[in-house]
Amino acid sequence: MTENFNDKVVLITGGASGLGEACAQAFAAGGGRVAVADVSSEAVAGVVDRIEAQGGQAIGVTCDVTDSSAVEGMVKRVVDTWGRLDVGVNSAGIVTPITPVAETEEGDFDRLMAVNVKGVWLSMRGQIRQMLEQGGGSIVNMASALSIRVHPGSAFYVASKFAVAGLTRTAAVEYAQSGIRINAICPGNIKTPMFEKAVTDPETIAALQGLHPMNRLGKPEEVAAAVMWLASDAASFTTGSLLTADGGWTAT
Ligand SMILES: NC(=O)c1ccc[n+]([C@@H]2O[C@H](COP(=O)([O-])OP(=O)(O)OC[C@H]3O[C@@H](n4cnc5c(N)ncnc54)[C@H](O)[C@@H]3O)[C@@H](O)[C@H]2O)c1
Repeated sequence: MTENFNDKVVLITGGASGLGEACAQAFAAGGGRVAVADVSSEAVAGVVDRIEAQGGQAIGVTCDVTDSSAVEGMVKRVVDTWGRLDVGVNSAGIVTPITPVAETEEGDFDRLMAVNVKGVWLSMRGQIRQMLEQGGGSIVNMASALSIRVHPGSAFYVASKFAVAGLTRTAAVEYAQSGIRINAICPGNIKTPMFEKAVTDPETIAALQGLHPMNRLGKPEEVAAAVMWLASDAASFTTGSLLTADGGWTAT
């Protein structure tokens, strides 16, 4: 990785799997001190062990991003450990099964919105409060190509990712003069545990792959590279952007 994150303190929600884990590995390889936060404590410990085994610096924080006091505790733990917070990456997210709107259920809506929208809001709020105190920082939220396009059967997920785009852009404008840059990354379909659990039959995988002009799924490290650029000083004039990493999908 070209960007140098030496001594930068990076907090990643959903850091124990998929895109969050790829970001954790990439920032640690770039010299960052990485807090891996996730609801799954066992998976958190595994990622921390792997980072440390490669000579990186990491701590694990067990946190449910839908719980405001847990999120406050997460940011506090990072600041108690390393004294500051330079980068927040908000990747915790879930999907619900493909369902047309007429057949959707209230419980699924509440669960999805709680993690994908409230979780991003709470995490961002905690990160911004700390960044205001220390005089700056950078946040990257995990949005989606489905912050720009729609997908039949995914109304809740699409709504949640449009909301992430709205939260990102509004907050970016609010804090543009406070030294805090806030952006979102919009991945296409990426081969992560989430994707592999949600989509199993070869025909559907081929159809989803075909949505991308590159005619392949993305790799988690391809998203992590774009997140690192957004988080880095190289992106110093970039805030409120929705950067795609989608093999050209949203260009179609
Ligand atoms: N994989 C894709 O194709 C894709 C595409 C676009 C956007 N995204 C988004 O990227 C993000 C990461 O997805 P992924 O594919 O890496 O999924 P993943 O399931 O591999 O990882 C998500 C992580 O979030 C954690 N998590 C879930 N609920 C949580 C909660 N309440 N509190 C804290 N952590 C919680 C999970 O434990 C898991 O470790 C999500 O926001 C997803 O919507 C994924």
